[in-house]
Amino acid sequence: MRESAGEMADRIGPGCLLIEFGSGSSTKTRLLLDELRDPAAYVPIDISKEHLMRSAADLSAAYPALEVIPVCADYTADYDLPKPRRATERRVVYFPGSTIGNFHRARAIEFLEHVREVCGANGGVLIGVDLKKDRETLERAYNDAKGITADFNLNLLERINRELRSDFDLRLFRHRAVYHEGAGRIEMYLVSLADQTVELDGEPISFEKGEGIRTECSYKYDLEEFRDLVWEAGFRVDDVWTDPEARFSVQYLSVV
Ligand SMILES: C[S@@+](CC[C@H](N)C(=O)[O-])C[C@H]1O[C@@H](n2cnc3c(N)ncnc32)[C@H](O)[C@@H]1O
Repeated sequence: MRESAGEMADRIGPGCLLIEFGSGSSTKTRLLLDELRDPAAYVPIDISKEHLMRSAADLSAAYPALEVIPVCADYTADYDLPKPRRATERRVVYFPGSTIGNFHRARAIEFLEHVREVCGANGGVLIGVDLKKDRETLERAYNDAKGITADFNLNLLERINRELRSDFDLRLFRHRAVYHEGAGRIEMYLVSLADQTVELDGEPISFEKGEGIRTECSYKYDLEEFRDLVWEAGFRVDDVWTDPEARFSVQYLSVV
């Protein structure tokens, strides 16, 4: 992103309305905003209101000439897109993480069709796509030594305990991530370390030792597969930027 933001901005062109899905702290956005020519406005969309409003205020302070219009919404659902004060050349959806990989194929196409509606004719998408690589590299990344992914995965049980009246003992589950080569996806599991029964909203659920709960899938694509997928949703791949080892890509798609 850092090295190619200038080329990405050239591809997007002047006067765009930049709409970010899941903007979070808008960290990567700044790399792009620094290069964009005269953007019409920036619309960060995030489901987490407090975080969104704080990041939008910070961004407005850092880019005083830019109109920043935060929208608190689920980006997969319907919401009203705000109208910026200035005229817009084109709408560009910015989705830089590799979240598209978390959708199964049919759902990814549906989601991209929704994105196409948001950006409209003449619009585009700048999207991050994790690429296929060898099993060892992938499994190492998802079973990282610092245990960051494991904590993230186990946190799901903590939330279920908090929000769904449940009593999972986090010490009795272990994170495991495996690459399913045929399906081209990483599958994350929480594996039960014992025979046990957990109560979920008053219902008993039994686990055998070694039984896993599948918590997440993350699809990896090669460039041709992704090109075919976006085509089905009505997009064409115009540009692809990758790191030197071609492990990750950022792609610019335009509405066909
Ligand atoms: C990893 S952060 C994104 C980071 C951000 N792109 C950046 O560069 O700083 C993911 C964000 O997406 C938001 N999010 C996840 N699912 C969402 C959804 N369905 N609708 C809206 N926001 C969502 C989360 O609240 C979180 O702030």
